Amino acid sequence: MLSKKIEAALNNQILLESESSQIYLAMACWAETNGFDGTSGFMYAHSDEERGHMLKIVKYVNERGSHAVIPQLPQPKHDYKSLLEVFENLLEHEVAVTNSINELVFVCLEARDYTTHNFLQWYVSEQTEEEALARTILDKLKMIGNDKGGLYLFDRDVESITVTSATSLQAQ
Ligand code: FEO
Repeated sequence: MLSKKIEAALNNQILLESESSQIYLAMACWAETNGFDGTSGFMYAHSDEERGHMLKIVKYVNERGSHAVIPQLPQPKHDYKSLLEVFENLLEHEVAVTNSINELVFVCLEARDYTTHNFLQWYVSEQTEEEALARTILDKLKMIGNDKGGLYLFDRDVESITVTSATSLQAQ
């Protein structure tokens, strides 16, 4: 059974991952209604991934004899000025998620909950990859600026930028 403190911290992470899923779903809708079909596909897939991250914690909490709480969420932002703003917001959000995971790992160590600490290692690596992906995409968008042809090509190609390819690009 999880301690009350770890249970609360994991439930807070469930909230954050659910929020990520909703935020990226709203970004998918903005992109889809503004002619950025590639970005929209990317965001729909990313939203699904975040739901997966949430579910993984939900199951872990319940399997450890505690109770996962499905949170009420605020309405996400649904209007953006540009693709650049969309991806800036995405990176900002991922950095906040990384900070939260790091805090959670610290709380587990303090409480000597090595099982949960071990469970969280997957999230530690995932966050490194997600931040790398967001930074790679942002770098591309900054290079493109307002060039319409560049934005067209970016939107066409963004769905094929995977977490793995972004991590190797960052390593170069
Ligand atoms: Fe599950 Fe993108 O944090």
